[in-house]
Amino acid sequence: MGRLENKVAVITGAGSGMGRVTAELFAREGAIVAVTDFNRDAGQEVTDGIIAEGGRAKFWALDVTSEKAIAAAYAEIGAEFGTIDVLVNCAGIIGVDKATHELSEEEWDALFAVDVKGVFFSTKHALPFMMAQKSGSIINFSSIYGLTGNDEFTAYHVAKGAVTMMTKQDAAVYGKYNIRVNSVHPSTVLTPLVEGIANAFPGGLAEYEKVNTAAQSIRRLGVSMDVAYGVLYLASDESTWVTGVNLPIDGGFMAR
Ligand SMILES: NC(=O)c1ccc[n+]([C@@H]2O[C@H](COP(=O)([O-])OP(=O)(O)OC[C@H]3O[C@@H](n4cnc5c(N)ncnc54)[C@H](O)[C@@H]3O)[C@@H](O)[C@H]2O)c1
Repeated sequence: MGRLENKVAVITGAGSGMGRVTAELFAREGAIVAVTDFNRDAGQEVTDGIIAEGGRAKFWALDVTSEKAIAAAYAEIGAEFGTIDVLVNCAGIIGVDKATHELSEEEWDALFAVDVKGVFFSTKHALPFMMAQKSGSIINFSSIYGLTGNDEFTAYHVAKGAVTMMTKQDAAVYGKYNIRVNSVHPSTVLTPLVEGIANAFPGGLAEYEKVNTAAQSIRRLGVSMDVAYGVLYLASDESTWVTGVNLPIDGGFMAR
């Protein structure tokens, strides 16, 4: 018996990085996984891989910036699988590395469209299934930089701060429906999102790891599975009394 046996789980951004590894882990733990991503090839490849390993999954091509697309896809997922028990809001982009005085309105809006509005739309259209059955678990991907600031990627960090607050607010509002809302806050995890930045870093990946983990207690970059195991716990019935938590998974960064 898997830790998510027969739960219907929707994962955004499941075509790559932590979303992909979470989808694969969920399927191995018995979940029926709705893989969603706006990258069709990547999403279909993840889905085919899960099915090839004996898991249950289906792919929906989905851009989280479109409320219409989300509403249509989640209605289809509900019709196909009966409900939505678990929602993982993982899709995200990092945007441009600029400070407030350098950012254009377009850059700000493009980042917020995915990282903030995407979480809002996705949560909004999963909630009715959870409210009807009086249970559900939503896990939002924020970041250590949704809990504290630093001197880079201002729009991204402010957006992740909004996700931190959406988590607390939705946990407060929807507890009466037995819906839990928690967030995970990774430090730097080596995924395609950061691989380009790491490889272009002066001194390469080794130097990037040294610099980026200097403020952690455990001085290595994260791997996707470090975070996926936390998401699995929050999705499962092992955490039915856990809600409104902003969980750092960060090698101890936030403790120092
Ligand atoms: N990698 C890190 O160090 C790190 C640290 C903290 C938080 N995060 C957050 O974790 C989440 C996953 O990051 P990752 O590193 O695995 O990234 P990734 O780039 O490997 O994967 C992100 C996925 O989201 C999809 N996506 C992007 N925009 C989308 C859109 N508009 N609609 C639908 N799908 C879209 C991409 O196609 C991709 O498959 C993101 O929210 C990211 O901000 C990452």
